[in-house]
Amino acid sequence: MAIIFNGKKKTFSLHTSGTTYQLKIGNLNYVKHLYYGPRILDEDLIYLIRRYDRGFSGNPYDSLKERTFSLDAQPQEFTTQQQGDFRINSIEVRNSNGSYSFDGRYISHRIYPGPFTLSGLPTAFASENDTVETLELVIEDAITKVQVTLLYSVFEEADIIMRAARVRNAGDGTIWLERIMSLNMDYLNGLNLDLISLPGRYGQERQVERQRLTHHVHKIRSGRGISSHQQNPFVALVDRSADENYGSCYGFALMYSGSFLAEVELDQYDQARLVMGINDRLFNYPVEPGGEFDTPAVLMTYTHDGLTQMSHHFHDFFRNNLNRSKFVRDVRRPVLINTWEAAFFDFDDVKLVEIAKAARDMGVEMIVMDDGWFGKRNDDNSGLGDWYVNEKKIRCGLTELVRQINELGMKFGIWFEPEMVSEDSDLFRAHPDWAMEIPGRHAVRSRNQLALDMGRKEVQDYVIESVNRILDSANIYYVKWDINRAITDLWSNALPAELQGEVSHRYVLGLYRVMDGIIKTHPDIMFEGCAGGGGRFDPAMLTYFVQYWSSDNTKPLDNLKLHYGSSFLYPLCTMGAHVSSASPMVPLETKAAIAMGGTFGYELDATKLKKSAIRTCRKMSDLYQKYYNLNFFGDYYRLVNPFEKVNLVAWECVAKDRSEALVTVVTVNLTVNGPQEYIKCRGLDPDRFYRIRGDGEELTATGAALMHAGIPIPREIPDFTAFQYHLEAVERVSR
Ligand code: DGJ
Repeated sequence: MAIIFNGKKKTFSLHTSGTTYQLKIGNLNYVKHLYYGPRILDEDLIYLIRRYDRGFSGNPYDSLKERTFSLDAQPQEFTTQQQGDFRINSIEVRNSNGSYSFDGRYISHRIYPGPFTLSGLPTAFASENDTVETLELVIEDAITKVQVTLLYSVFEEADIIMRAARVRNAGDGTIWLERIMSLNMDYLNGLNLDLISLPGRYGQERQVERQRLTHHVHKIRSGRGISSHQQNPFVALVDRSADENYGSCYGFALMYSGSFLAEVELDQYDQARLVMGINDRLFNYPVEPGGEFDTPAVLMTYTHDGLTQMSHHFHDFFRNNLNRSKFVRDVRRPVLINTWEAAFFDFDDVKLVEIAKAARDMGVEMIVMDDGWFGKRNDDNSGLGDWYVNEKKIRCGLTELVRQINELGMKFGIWFEPEMVSEDSDLFRAHPDWAMEIPGRHAVRSRNQLALDMGRKEVQDYVIESVNRILDSANIYYVKWDINRAITDLWSNALPAELQGEVSHRYVLGLYRVMDGIIKTHPDIMFEGCAGGGGRFDPAMLTYFVQYWSSDNTKPLDNLKLHYGSSFLYPLCTMGAHVSSASPMVPLETKAAIAMGGTFGYELDATKLKKSAIRTCRKMSDLYQKYYNLNFFGDYYRLVNPFEKVNLVAWECVAKDRSEALVTVVTVNLTVNGPQEYIKCRGLDPDRFYRIRGDGEELTATGAALMHAGIPIPREIPDFTAFQYHLEAVERVSR
């Protein structure tokens, strides 16, 4: 059993295979958080909490003048509001009488098999061999009858706990949620914790930052209506001494694609508190009597074996528990060529067929027709929203074009940007009120386009219907779903003034409904997400998309950093990565080796490549096919941190049974006559010999030697050379 309730001690112990999370119904029925860490017995850890009279930290009235009981100094599962806890909080509610207070005490709980689901929001599911149990624990404010149900689904084998909160208004007047977090996580001592996050910008997503917790509130957030290029909805709190191999690491990933917030506070007593959920900025949600509000889910994991193990927990979970598409595991994803950097808007049906013909010889299996095929879309100023084929460009029609591509033995993919509208479009001319624009003002333009009000049902229905019509009109194998601006001008013409605080969240809920109506109804189509690159690459999106376009920056050396940063949370098989014409000084082989650090494909004009380049691409596509299982399903190890001043960068994928591995090394700055460099492998079986090929020399060594002494990397070679060392287990060491 994953969840054990001890009725006598009133403790709940949530066990995964390697961890225990404990909470307790404590004094005055406040729910205390006691422990999250390596697995322990179901012992009551209340002894950890010592109580003192803490000056200026108030005491609940019914603690009866007991001055040592203060919520300001106690670890809690979810916070109160205005009950003497002055730290960051998980709920801010304006009650029907105008007061701001919430005093949540335990009233009930239930435990059941399987994970929870949420209304209109994606959650993780139990895969075949998972043991999953859920605890729902209800706290209630006795005066206002506002209830918060704390939801915990324990994925035992995966070492993951999924959490969320559900607010129910059991009172008789409308309440207003001004802030409602998915999770509150208290630490008894946070002084030795570092905060890791993945900040970035357009073209440079998911870089890595690690900072010491100090006595203030650290905020990781997006207010852009999308999870954003600037921050990813992920944080880790790790021991100051934690590295890739050792140390306590707590990882948290929010399953939400809109504006989000993670706050961490180190308090006056060196306790730490993390809250994570929907960004409370421009958020104000009414809940009617009898109504409910669900927060998005957070996935959390713990390990005391360092950052790699934390990432492996997420990688395995993302591969097994988020997306039921057959393209996750059962059907190989084809090598694709995308037309964007090859032609931008300047293509027609003839050009597409020419690119496909040339690409076939590169080992490419699918051509993706990017932006520019619809409406009057000859540049990025017009056409968005008009999802019908531009027959001036695709003169033969879409069905016929796809037939011609299929006849070449290739599959066909297509691009959409369903959430957007151009002012110069038939859609906007017919429904100007569907765009987000604040009355009396002009909307902020971005890439000369406006966002549709995705919270409106008629808008959702239009998008579902118009995109599905195209998908059903031809033999389409793949869709790239893009969004190319942040969301501003939060206003819905369909809502009265007092409900405008719902618009941002409604957009996200509407988007999920639209994706359900398009993606879930087309199980034979492979969907890739995109937001001007990786601007909405988040765990919720991965419940729909099997992969996500990592960045519009296809420079291979920048991608070394991008892959490294993304790998803290995301498995390699979710990161779209292409070989392009950017950075001509980097050889094609190296570009391809780096793109294999993602899902691999091409983004160039194949008709302009020399024969020798076509042959090289063919060789690299074949290698991608050869290493597909290793890269997609193996364990990923970060070997060298590209954010440090290094001479080479390296990473490794090891098969789950440790029978083979692929170590990729890229030289970035080998100094003349410099020292011999070695790359130490990880995750191998120490007691097996591995045969290694990759730099012209063949050698055999034990896993132990390769992990502790390493592979010597050739010197006196040009910068930007890639070696792909394939390690094959040959025999066991006999002792
Ligand atoms: C942004 C994407 O990231 C690009 O790959 C491309 O699809 C363009 N949008 C098209 O407008």
